Amino acid sequence: MQSRRLRVKMRFGILTGGGDCPGLNAVIRAAVRKGIGHYGHSFVGFRDGWRGVLRDGEHDELTIESTKGILHRGGTILGSSRTNPFKREDGPGEVRETLTTLDLDGLIAIGGEDTLGAANQLHREGIPVLGVPKTIDNDLGATDQTFGFDTALHVATEAIDRLHTTAESHQRVLIVEVMGRHAGWIALHSGVAGGADVILVPEEPFDLDDVCGHIRRRAERGRRFSIVVVAEGAVPQNGSITEDAATDEFGHARLGGIGHWLEREIERRAGVEARATVLGHIQRGGTPTAFDRVLATRLGLAAIDAAHDRRWGTMPALRGTRVELVPMADAVAELRTVPREDYEAFSVLFG
Ligand code: F6P
Repeated sequence: MQSRRLRVKMRFGILTGGGDCPGLNAVIRAAVRKGIGHYGHSFVGFRDGWRGVLRDGEHDELTIESTKGILHRGGTILGSSRTNPFKREDGPGEVRETLTTLDLDGLIAIGGEDTLGAANQLHREGIPVLGVPKTIDNDLGATDQTFGFDTALHVATEAIDRLHTTAESHQRVLIVEVMGRHAGWIALHSGVAGGADVILVPEEPFDLDDVCGHIRRRAERGRRFSIVVVAEGAVPQNGSITEDAATDEFGHARLGGIGHWLEREIERRAGVEARATVLGHIQRGGTPTAFDRVLATRLGLAAIDAAHDRRWGTMPALRGTRVELVPMADAVAELRTVPREDYEAFSVLFG
């Protein structure tokens, strides 16, 4: 006999917000396939993050057919934006209206700090929404790793390996600027994996004299090239170098610039040729690694189970090797940054 649980038909909306991230399509595919195939539910996909859920937003029906062949594809078939529903006069009211008009039982918001922050606030205002954590920066609380990080790490490590051989051939200092606004996970792990000589992260403001000291000591030992990996959010001890004041709807400044700043300063102070490479969106684009596809799929499956059970205000998260439901509020309460002891443990390898 079919259980009552399997007979109840529900309808959910899905959106992807914030920066794109390899694995987003795998989450959508898993949630839709299980939701339709196992539970008999139906789905609406909102275009461009929260923008799609607001009045005049766009949406399409999501079906097993429309989510075919997307598992390995980077980006998001739904599009993304950094629209903040709380920047609209009655954003929450518009979201509520959309839910009623489209006869939705709830929303699944796939996103990082900002998207989940908005989702959590909407939940507190009584709107049925749950989250799925994503960010290549790997800096969300309440989860041990986010999908997208592994892909970004592979891209950055491959770039460092390639830059290593050219640095050595030309006896240059090559600086690799990677993403990481508040947290240096990509910088630290790709730097360690790629054998960088100096790694700079946002959590530990750096002393330029120390950086130049490592480079000089290497030259004295006959190693006349160095690789410096720097997170975009890293800052010198005497303050920030960000000049561009452009901000998004969540008030984040557009970063980027520390790599070229280091290039100039290292040349000036250490008297060696330095060149910077900014990896930028290359780290976010393209096909996800197998690890990210599997993690994203597990999260998509857990998200539809949670929506089916009306576990609003929660999100599935990787805890150790298991996926568990945690309060969405915990993911955004505090960012997960690189612990000092982790950085210090690796820093004995610098220079
Ligand atoms: O949150 C991920 C992230 O990749 C950050 O590291 C970076 O600062 C930001 O997105 C940049 O995103 P965008 O260029 O889309 O504004």
